[in-house]
Amino acid sequence: MTTQEVPTSQQPLNTETGAAIYSPAILKLYNFGVLGLSNRYLWECPTETVLLPFFKEHLGLKHLDVGVGTGYYLANANLTPSHQIGLLDLNENSLRTAAAQVKQAKVSTFMRDVMLPLAEPADTGFDSISLFYVLHCLPGTIDQKETAIANLIRYLKKDGVLYGATILGDEAAHNPIGRLALKLYNQKGIMHNLADTLDGLQRMLERQFQSVQIRRHNKVALFVARN
Ligand SMILES: C[S@@+](CC[C@H](N)C(=O)[O-])C[C@H]1O[C@@H](n2cnc3c(N)ncnc32)[C@H](O)[C@@H]1O
Repeated sequence: MTTQEVPTSQQPLNTETGAAIYSPAILKLYNFGVLGLSNRYLWECPTETVLLPFFKEHLGLKHLDVGVGTGYYLANANLTPSHQIGLLDLNENSLRTAAAQVKQAKVSTFMRDVMLPLAEPADTGFDSISLFYVLHCLPGTIDQKETAIANLIRYLKKDGVLYGATILGDEAAHNPIGRLALKLYNQKGIMHNLADTLDGLQRMLERQFQSVQIRRHNKVALFVARN
């Protein structure tokens, strides 16, 4: 399968609310609140035993982290001076917080909206790109989120890997507290994922990559895609 262009002629979607929430104060609470409590009790996909090992498994020497949050995964990925790390995010607070976590490796930051046709990538040839908890923040249907994937492919080396995790929508049969949080976050525009499904994600990624592996850990889809 060949990489496909995604039409960009429609009205741009509003991506602001999915990124604006990450103020310095929210980022201070993020590791405990989201990575600690929410991942365990709401989405039932623990950070330390599921998501962090998955992050480390596919991390290449030249790696681009997209939607960086606090930089928790990079901070705990045993980076070495041989690693070259790119950080891409729409939010300056996230970029600054995450960059401060990457002490052992070379770091470049890119303040970009993954949903906008990216200008010529500032850097290319990444061995790996991680996209953890970003797709559920992006507006639109899972098919519209393909724009982000098509944009990021240009950063990836020919045999590189794009991998990530995203919280599924209603189809995941959320527990009562998860259902409440999902509804609230979608109402506020922090998440846009009520209709995101595992099959929809698989089909969307398969339009851009030859090989796609997806597994589900409770309410979270974990995907690995390569050409
Ligand atoms: C839920 S946090 C995820 C942080 C981290 N990857 C994790 O899993 O803990 C989402 C991150 O994606 C960024 N983000 C949201 N929408 C974006 C967009 N359209 N373009 C680039 N970054 C975006 C936010 O600013 C934030 O840093």
